[in-house]
Amino acid sequence: MKKKESPLYVNLAYESEMNRLAQNENPYGASNLAKEAVLENINKMSLYPDVILMELKEKLAKKHGVSPQEIIVSNGSGAIIDHLVNCMPHNGENMIVPELTFVAYKLCAAIYRKECRLVPMENYSINLHKIADNCDKKTHLVFLSNPNNPTGTIFSHDEIVEFLDRISSKTLVVLDEAYKEYVTDVSFPRSIELYNKYPNIIILHSFSKIYGLAGLRIGYGIARTSVIEELEKNRLPFMVGTLANIAALAALDDMEHVSESARKNAKGREILFQELSGMGYNVIPSQGNFLFISFATTEDRNKMYDTLLANKIVVRKMESFGDNRALRISLGRTAANIRMLDCLKIK
Ligand SMILES: Cc1ncc(COP(=O)(O)O)c(C=O)c1O
Repeated sequence: MKKKESPLYVNLAYESEMNRLAQNENPYGASNLAKEAVLENINKMSLYPDVILMELKEKLAKKHGVSPQEIIVSNGSGAIIDHLVNCMPHNGENMIVPELTFVAYKLCAAIYRKECRLVPMENYSINLHKIADNCDKKTHLVFLSNPNNPTGTIFSHDEIVEFLDRISSKTLVVLDEAYKEYVTDVSFPRSIELYNKYPNIIILHSFSKIYGLAGLRIGYGIARTSVIEELEKNRLPFMVGTLANIAALAALDDMEHVSESARKNAKGREILFQELSGMGYNVIPSQGNFLFISFATTEDRNKMYDTLLANKIVVRKMESFGDNRALRISLGRTAANIRMLDCLKIK
């Protein structure tokens, strides 16, 4: 079979001399506790996983102050997104997605042939007023990535409260917080507080980002028991692998790894933002572990992409997200970040 020619997909991206700044992974890797737990349990790969995942659900429930029955765990939060769209009713319901956001939402809509309304952004941010304007009686789901992948912008607690007060309580609002741990802006929504007040919220979390477990595929959602039961009823068992469960349990015991990763990310993010802006690039201020750069033309965008690739740095073109004049650069370790800046300085 012919391999795809994109550097994201060929093995090239896994070669050690390549700097992978394309997939918003944690450049510091997983917690040592998670790695040790996986190695200690490596022989369990021959066993089918725990179906109920109660230990993990209990741990997550305690962390978020909810009950284990309000938690669904799956093979990545992307799988929960897929399942939510797949489980939409078949009576002409629609879903609403910001125009420039995580590509999986609209991809799932296409896969399951659901009406997906794309709502324009405002200055690369999600405009909750416009989203509310597009909701109607048939709106089943609203997907909100906060921080927004790929632009890195956030909406605040007060903004989402206003939005939730405006829309129908029958519409399920997905607060996708895959990058929440990277946020430093104190106006960021206190999602559990919102969840306690608004029963129509589902909060998604990923172990792929700050926890550094992207290759194992595990993520979870928090929602009312009735929503969780409906989702559980309609899927196959054994979605989460044995080692993914073990790694996630151990990773939750290492908050030091999380806070250190967040601290280094915030430092790198600020330096890169300042340096790239100083070079004249239009960089959007980010609360995630990535920066979004918008260019005047696709050619300008390609120039930066090609320069970086020639220097063994893979970043992400934004076509599939719906913007052919932008790049998203994931933050790397300090050395990779400096290398990137250095090769952009030599023009
Ligand atoms: C906003 C957002 N949500 C969800 C995901 C899915 O993450 P995973 O399926 O790896 O948990 C991603 C991955 O990039 C993302 O950017």
